[in-house]
Amino acid sequence: MNPGVFITFEGGEGAGKSTQVRRLAETIARNGVEVVTTREPGGSPLAERIRTLILDPEAAEMDAVTQTLLFAAARAEHVRATIRPALARGAVVLCDRFTDSTRAYQGAGGGVAAGDVAALERIAVGRAIPDLTLILDLPVEVGMARARARFGGSLAGSDRFERKDVTFHERIREAFRELAEREPQRCVLIDADADAGTVATRIAEKVIPRLPARFS
Ligand code: TYD
Repeated sequence: MNPGVFITFEGGEGAGKSTQVRRLAETIARNGVEVVTTREPGGSPLAERIRTLILDPEAAEMDAVTQTLLFAAARAEHVRATIRPALARGAVVLCDRFTDSTRAYQGAGGGVAAGDVAALERIAVGRAIPDLTLILDLPVEVGMARARARFGGSLAGSDRFERKDVTFHERIREAFRELAEREPQRCVLIDADADAGTVATRIAEKVIPRLPARFS
């Protein structure tokens, strides 16, 4: 058992995950607890190098199996170098995307068999399974409009996944919603179709009561 707490943030494009990671980190850190914020793909020096390779828009031909293997390799390194040591120290770890992104994007979206995704997940994370996963849910058009705004009105400068079509993103949204239903102990679906302050309050209301007493 880890003395720390592991919380992951999931959802489609433009769901506001990184803003919400930052806000929750500030809220928890106010209680004098060590908070480590991290993200995937990436989160350790080597994993960040794999990130550059996976998200390169120039490498558009990469198939879903190759993606799955690279995400798993980056994740194994991220867990080993960043997540596991932080949890062992007793920190709260907030991670922007984790295993559920592979299940949704490469599994449901890319057609990689669920059993294969699950096997790689076990190899990559071992016992570093999230204590809580917040799935930020919002209509695809709203998320894509937000993502587009981030890139100055077009998705041309964005990564390979942001450039996929609406049907793909609908499939991703559905996959996340199904995950939340299938694992209600670990996953909480958050309505993210609101301003950042409102969503932050919704998240804090779910998270704070679930933290062990020494964290709140
Ligand atoms: P990122 O650039 O961090 O953007 P976002 O703000 O959407 O999180 O995301 C990287 C992209 O990688 C994102 O489109 C989702 C995708 N992804 C996968 O397809 N599988 C995975 O396992 C992970 C972690 C991310």
